[in-house]
Amino acid sequence: MAGVPDPVARSVTVRAPGKVNLALSVGGLREDGYHELQTIFQAVDLYEEVTVRWLGPEEQDVVTVEGRDADKVPLDDSNLAMQALDEMRSYRIAHPIGIHIRKQIPVAGGMAGGSADAAATLVALDALFGLDLPREELLERAARLGADVPFAILGGTAIGTSRGDELTPILTQGRYHWVFATAPHGLSTPSVFFELDRLRGLSPGFTAEHVAAAKVSPSLLMALRTGDPAAVGPLLTNDLERAAVSLAPALADTLAVGREAGALGALVSGSGPTTAFLAADTEGALDIAVALTASGVAADTIRTTGPAHGARVIDRKQD
Ligand code: C5P
Repeated sequence: MAGVPDPVARSVTVRAPGKVNLALSVGGLREDGYHELQTIFQAVDLYEEVTVRWLGPEEQDVVTVEGRDADKVPLDDSNLAMQALDEMRSYRIAHPIGIHIRKQIPVAGGMAGGSADAAATLVALDALFGLDLPREELLERAARLGADVPFAILGGTAIGTSRGDELTPILTQGRYHWVFATAPHGLSTPSVFFELDRLRGLSPGFTAEHVAAAKVSPSLLMALRTGDPAAVGPLLTNDLERAAVSLAPALADTLAVGREAGALGALVSGSGPTTAFLAADTEGALDIAVALTASGVAADTIRTTGPAHGARVIDRKQD
């Protein structure tokens, strides 16, 4: 067995993107507690920046957070970056590690901010200790941490199947202009899936066969390939939307305001409560953001574009 790896730098910083699901089709509940799904992820230019640094033997693992929603991030073992560190300990990393997260992605917003933290931590530790793990192995480790973590490593636009963690990259053209509206309170992902099952009239114990197979629309894939946002907009769909709206009814107003302001498509992002609006261009995005802010339906708005790159090293320091 290989020995204990030595660090090859003092610290490494990695950026990993947030995501929006352009389509999210949810099938039945599986025995492992996850739902079978088919989704199209697009990574957006909104990043978590994670710096990992090895510490002296007398120190302890520690996670610190700054930036958007920093006060809402747990600093204990429930932090996904800490869980990623635990996962990487199987490579015999012996040093205590300091993890610092600079956040841009809203917490509990359906944009996979925590998953981006985990993805960035895996990639950063791989680089800090010169492990040079094959991509497939990193993706496997990522999938153990959560269904959205592998996509934060991959980035771009991709179809996700199974739990959303089996990925096939897809080619798209053009840049997509997004406005995200945050909500004042987060929604927990399991409760949104649970609410969808309840709305579907399904009782506990049913299995995948009881629900129509999850499927993404071929016309959406075609529209993405030709790079026409006006064709993509009306095809954006999310099965979790009615569950998120059922738990947070104000989201219906937010979606309506964005549509009236000219959004080509409007939907709840992932399990919500962040809502996503596709605009024709930069000006269209500004109009939507202004309308959302003026009407008071959004806690905050974020303008960004996609697709964005996956987790990558942006800095290495030797001291
Ligand atoms: O994988 P992750 O930890 O992000 O998922 C959080 C929760 O969301 C799961 O525990 C499960 O309740 C729900 N989920 C699901 N089916 C999926 C993905 C997530 O039911 N495919």
